[in-house]
Amino acid sequence: MPAIRWGTATLLFALAPTWTGTFGTRHVAMTEASRAAKQRPESDRSGSAERGGKLLIRGLTLAFTAGLFIPQVRKQDAYLWYIAQVDRFNPDNQVSVAEAELLKRAGAMASKVGGSVVDLGSGSGNDFLTLKAAEAPDLPVLAVEPNRFTWEKAASEAHDLDLSVSFAADLEEVPSSSCALLLTRRVLCSVDDEHAALMEIYRVLKPGGVFVFIEHVAAEDGSPLRVTQEVLRPVQQAMANNCDMARDTEKEIRALPWASVECVAYDEAFNGPLTPHIRGLAVKAG
Ligand SMILES: C[S@@+](CC[C@H](N)C(=O)[O-])C[C@H]1O[C@@H](n2cnc3c(N)ncnc32)[C@H](O)[C@@H]1O
Repeated sequence: MPAIRWGTATLLFALAPTWTGTFGTRHVAMTEASRAAKQRPESDRSGSAERGGKLLIRGLTLAFTAGLFIPQVRKQDAYLWYIAQVDRFNPDNQVSVAEAELLKRAGAMASKVGGSVVDLGSGSGNDFLTLKAAEAPDLPVLAVEPNRFTWEKAASEAHDLDLSVSFAADLEEVPSSSCALLLTRRVLCSVDDEHAALMEIYRVLKPGGVFVFIEHVAAEDGSPLRVTQEVLRPVQQAMANNCDMARDTEKEIRALPWASVECVAYDEAFNGPLTPHIRGLAVKAG
């Protein structure tokens, strides 16, 4: 899962200078310690400069890591650029048989309605293979992704799949009642306000338009997995692009006045605390 990879990679990235600072230089310091003691007086200035440098690096590392716990920091270009690089080298674009079947049904419904196809939170374009399964080539595809650093890779994915895609940074740019099909794939965990995002999704869909969701969600209340999710929640959000693994997304979806909602809960093979999943579709009232 990209979220796990992001989390791990970000953690390694954040802590690497500390580790090398701690272990690497300590090893050098130990092997040179006796020589240095003989050759240098205790008040050697270069020694204190080295210590000052190490302290500075550790301080900066600590500040960087602590900063990730502040949501506004995770909106900064440096963080978004970094996330885009990790994502770029970790493609995760498989489509299961069940997902393909779901998209195919949704595509058939959307083709009757007519309008655009929106891939919300398209990231680096991993979703485009899923969108292809909708088999609705006549509908224009709009990828809505706030992290502009992912657009280039996403555009190249679209090109490779022979899919014509345009890009926007925010769903606010999409006119009301213009969209025939909207897909979120592991996105509602990352938005700042899930209810507001769902209201926006509802707004842009045409009457009869289809919302397809493939999301990881909170485990059952009180289960050991749920406790784990709650404990790891702030770290996961800090390290993995705002991803909150303990959201009751099905409840949030059902809170809107859809004409119909289908939702299946399932577990993937080992996915750490990023399970269970839900997938399904909701149709906007006509
Ligand atoms: C876990 S990634 C999933 C990316 C892609 N759907 C995939 O499955 O590989 C979540 C994505 O949602 C995007 N995102 C976060 N908030 C968003 C919002 N309000 N509107 C659209 N996308 C958003 C993030 O920038 C990120 O690219």
